[in-house]
Amino acid sequence: MSKKIILIVIALIILGLGVVYIIQNKETNNTNNKEEATENNQKSAVVYFSATGNTKEVSGYIAEEVDADLIEITPAEEYTAEDLDYNNDNCRANTEQNNENARPEIANDIDVTTYDVIYLGYPIWWGDVPKIILTFLDNTDLNGKTVIPFCTSGGSSISTSLNTLKEYKSDINWIDGERLDVSKEAVIDFLNNLNY
Ligand SMILES: Cc1cc2nc3c(=O)[nH]c(=O)nc-3n(C[C@H](O)[C@H](O)[C@H](O)COP(=O)(O)O)c2cc1C
Repeated sequence: MSKKIILIVIALIILGLGVVYIIQNKETNNTNNKEEATENNQKSAVVYFSATGNTKEVSGYIAEEVDADLIEITPAEEYTAEDLDYNNDNCRANTEQNNENARPEIANDIDVTTYDVIYLGYPIWWGDVPKIILTFLDNTDLNGKTVIPFCTSGGSSISTSLNTLKEYKSDINWIDGERLDVSKEAVIDFLNNLNY
């Protein structure tokens, strides 16, 4: 074999090895990018209690906007109109709110283990969270998760309920949410302003 042919063969081998190296490197980079995307891809759920539908509607808008799963906290004993008649001192809702030990039972099993972020929705009852929200916190391990409370109300702000939640479970990563009007626009504004 002439010297020229040997040189050409060596050059082809080096070229081949180079091409294999470039292809392998590209595959590794692609895998790394995919891993990064998965890391940043937090899974969210909107968990809510709603007695008359307002918080349910708002929760639906949030779930739609952030592509979250929607989970309802269903009371074992449904609240009737009579139960919610807050002008009657003895109605069930008022009696529960006045009893610091009241923990109304939840009918459904709520599994949040696979979620990183929980939007937690409720109506304001006498300026605060309905006691069934405390039942939910008792039943659910939210350690290491980000929880964003939000509420609907006739006008009262969310602030007292935020304090109640933070005091009740101080080890949760709480992010202050807002009282929301029952509209998609209000939800979009809220989500745009949310920093976490
Ligand atoms: C027992 C009870 C107490 C309430 N207390 C308040 C209150 O303190 N402040 C307020 O603005 N609205 C209050 N509301 C009104 C609700 O917060 C409001 O209607 C809410 O949007 C209902 O949400 P839901 O339809 O998801 O149950 C109360 C309602 C009930 C039934």
